Amino acid sequence: MSKRRIVYEGKAKILYEGPEPGTLIQYFKDDTTAFDAQKKAVLDGKGVLNNRISEFIMNQLSAIGIPTHFIRRLNMREQLIRKVEIIPLEVVVRNIAAGSLSTRLGMPEGQQLPRPLVEFYYKSDALHDPMVSEEHIAAFGWATPQEYDDIIALALRVNDYMSGLFAGAGIRLVDFKIEFGRYFENDHDMPRIMLADEISPDSCRLWDYKTGEKLDKDRFRRDLGGVTEAYAEVARRLGIIRESGDTDNVVSFTGGSK
Ligand code: TMP
Repeated sequence: MSKRRIVYEGKAKILYEGPEPGTLIQYFKDDTTAFDAQKKAVLDGKGVLNNRISEFIMNQLSAIGIPTHFIRRLNMREQLIRKVEIIPLEVVVRNIAAGSLSTRLGMPEGQQLPRPLVEFYYKSDALHDPMVSEEHIAAFGWATPQEYDDIIALALRVNDYMSGLFAGAGIRLVDFKIEFGRYFENDHDMPRIMLADEISPDSCRLWDYKTGEKLDKDRFRRDLGGVTEAYAEVARRLGIIRESGDTDNVVSFTGGSK
């Protein structure tokens, strides 16, 4: 594994050269960071869970016609993906006030928003991912007007679908962050926009419908403990892993987490 060429290493994932041109292998680490990597930890089994959860969600989204970079899962920590040119924007969709929206606008966490909000942040740790508007995106050419429209339409479809998916598991989808890439297919001049990166409890806010318990990375950001246990609970409720006691699932890999 270490002999493969690393194409890119991020905070929570590594991208290796894929087996065929136009593919990459996405490896999920246990490393967890928050606040631009000022806070760090290694959470045993987190990468395994995120690999499975992201696989499940990407497959579901593909099935409703949303183009994604996901091809197939290879093993516990790796998936084969299409190589895309990442658009340098974090696209956040919010249904309920929380996190930076609550801080910025002084809105209590948990307040239902009048409609889903789509926000854009420029991907730059050095600049702390500043929020940007359509004006910046157009002026600096981060996405064409057509791509911008496609991204908003896709983000809202992802939100509608995932809200229902999680609701069926007794989980409220508060907000989430997704990323998009350009896929250059064969000789086509025009790249296709597709969903890239991952969708997991690292990149979503997920609250238990009944109790409001947080089942996402806020457990790490806010020192609530039980981070991987919460991720495993999400995987269990989505039917990705079976109840604990089953030896052939990822629960056994999360036992050592704190
Ligand atoms: P925020 O409220 O901190 O802006 O976060 C909005 C959503 O985006 C939330 O679901 C967590 C996710 N997110 C990331 O995936 N990566 C990040 O770097 C940040 C800041 C948030």
